[in-house]
Amino acid sequence: MKVDGNNMRTIWLDKDLSTVKVIDQRLLPHRLVISDLKTVDHVIAAVKEMVVRGAPLIGVTGAYGVYLATLNSPAKTIEDHYLAAECSRLKSARPTAVNLAWAVDRMFSLVSGVSGTSEKIDAARKEAGKIAEEEVESCRKIGEHGYHLIEGLHRRKNKETVNLLTHCNAGWLACVEYGTATAPMYVAFDKGIDIHVWVDETRPLNQGARLTAWELGKYGIRHTVITDNAGGHLMQHGMVDIVITGTDRTTYTGDVANKIGTYLKALAAHDNNIPFYVALPSSTFDWTLRDGIKGIPIETRDPDEIRYVQGMNHGMIKDVLITPIASPAGNFAFDVTPARLVTGFITERGICNASEKEILNLFPERKNS
Ligand code: MRU
Repeated sequence: MKVDGNNMRTIWLDKDLSTVKVIDQRLLPHRLVISDLKTVDHVIAAVKEMVVRGAPLIGVTGAYGVYLATLNSPAKTIEDHYLAAECSRLKSARPTAVNLAWAVDRMFSLVSGVSGTSEKIDAARKEAGKIAEEEVESCRKIGEHGYHLIEGLHRRKNKETVNLLTHCNAGWLACVEYGTATAPMYVAFDKGIDIHVWVDETRPLNQGARLTAWELGKYGIRHTVITDNAGGHLMQHGMVDIVITGTDRTTYTGDVANKIGTYLKALAAHDNNIPFYVALPSSTFDWTLRDGIKGIPIETRDPDEIRYVQGMNHGMIKDVLITPIASPAGNFAFDVTPARLVTGFITERGICNASEKEILNLFPERKNS
């Protein structure tokens, strides 16, 4: 994506082939800083501390983490037991987004099947790059498919502004390029459709206010940041035509784990007959889980993310305490929206209803997994 005229991705391999470069998302929108990841420990810290975040990007970062593990093997050879232990450390960095385990497992099965140290390193580098490119292509296709939903609304509204609402950041910053929920917005904007996006601020870490607003603004898309509780009111007053969110893990039956608060938006959309779509690449489906509420692990994070808010003050990025010093806080990072509240999924293969039958019709190769 273009940032101030320069093409940029969220992650790339440096020319030295031993440094993974990422945008440090903790500092946006105030500072655009690139961080270097050179070891598995660096990758784990970047994922845990949310230097990188968003399901597809966590997956790609994990894949590059496996590549760094092959480069930094303590022995001359890369033994399976060493690689398996590094993979398991990587996978435990964040629990909810299934893309991390998916990408790391894919890397392990490929690399462990290759013989020779330099051959393993080479294969790992190529596979991590391939996963990144596949995610880019999936997001591009999600944009093409999802565009038709926005275009249809635009026609039905006699070419008046289409108002979208999104939660958290499921934009290019959460992926490598384009984003998932934002990809249809970028395509619609490029094709001249008048759109406006309501951006949920998304407490506690404000991925909407900080990241989605930054992305959309850089692209020139009209948007308004709202409090997390404003969506229901806007929906009751006809100010939202469609909700599109991303997801961290979606069961093959259509239950959606996404940033905390997504469920409440889905309830409000359902109550107001507003379409609620979830955009995702196939790497975000969990093909093993039937019941999302019982089965999807929900990350709990440091309560200080709730007790403090970060912002810019006189040119300095600062944390400010907003609760009584002694009050405890509970930081549940994700929730699960049941399939019955989801109108449909926008995937790289097209759009389907949120049912096991329709999901498996789009991905028939998963029918027996
Ligand atoms: O905690 P985060 O910022 O990693 O949460 C991200 C989200 O909830 C996104 O909506 C999700 O990962 C989809 S990203 C395309």
